[in-house]
Amino acid sequence: MRIARTALVTGAGRGLGFALVKELLASDYTVFAGRRSEQGDFLDSLPQEDKERLHIVPLDIANDESVRAATVTISGEKGHLDLVFNNVGVSTKHKPTINQSFDMEELIRLFNINALGALRVTSMIMPLLLCGSLRTVVTISSEAGSLARMKSKNWYGYSMSKAALNMQSILVHNDLREQGGRVLIFHPGWMQTYINGELDTKASYTPEFSAKKIIELMHAHIDYNGDQPAFLDIHGQQLPW
Ligand SMILES: NC(=O)c1ccc[n+]([C@@H]2O[C@H](COP(=O)([O-])OP(=O)(O)OC[C@H]3O[C@@H](n4cnc5c(N)ncnc54)[C@H](OP(=O)(O)O)[C@@H]3O)[C@@H](O)[C@H]2O)c1
Repeated sequence: MRIARTALVTGAGRGLGFALVKELLASDYTVFAGRRSEQGDFLDSLPQEDKERLHIVPLDIANDESVRAATVTISGEKGHLDLVFNNVGVSTKHKPTINQSFDMEELIRLFNINALGALRVTSMIMPLLLCGSLRTVVTISSEAGSLARMKSKNWYGYSMSKAALNMQSILVHNDLREQGGRVLIFHPGWMQTYINGELDTKASYTPEFSAKKIIELMHAHIDYNGDQPAFLDIHGQQLPW
């Protein structure tokens, strides 16, 4: 059974975010699609019938004012949200080892977007989420955020910011769970997206494949009530913290 529901997807213009928007629209959701820049953005290419349930909102998750303005827009148009997909994530070509020099501004940029960006969105959107029926936050993280799995010597900014994102998701889950909600964390796999600056055609999965799996798993875990967030890959396997 599908009940008409409303979701916000951040970073919705391309890659996994765009694929999540398509999958949610196909599952009868009304979707607020957060768009930072129109360049390289595919949202306008969606068919007209999908656009009736699609609301494109300007949203830069690195910017307090932008997140606040998006929240006001969603509140005015719908008054509640059932699901929030914190999908935005950025990587960097700056990958020094410990013996090389670090560009701290670049690391701060990654932290501000990957870790604090999701917190900015979740905290400002929380009143709308608590008015919804599902009270579910979906965090798109990465295997790179798993402390137990890390074998790299030079993946500082991305991995550290994803580990911080995971911790933030646990803190939010501890609170939401007491209010009938939950946080679900997904590692979407190595995808054919633009995260490294251009389309990665060698990657294992299309974003459409990962998005389909994530939405299936999200529906399967919609009553999830565990002590900690589920931290799953797209095959439903639990990842270690
Ligand atoms: N690709 C992989 O193999 C892989 C693996 C594991 C995890 N992930 C995770 O999957 C998620 C989606 O990544 P992707 O691979 O789909 O990357 P992508 O193709 O680069 O898409 C990222 C999206 O985020 C947007 N964005 C970037 N900074 C933003 C900001 N400050 N505010 C709002 N939107 C912003 C981008 O819009 P602009 O056009 O404005 O930049 C773009 O629409 C990320 O969390 C990533 O860490 C990806």
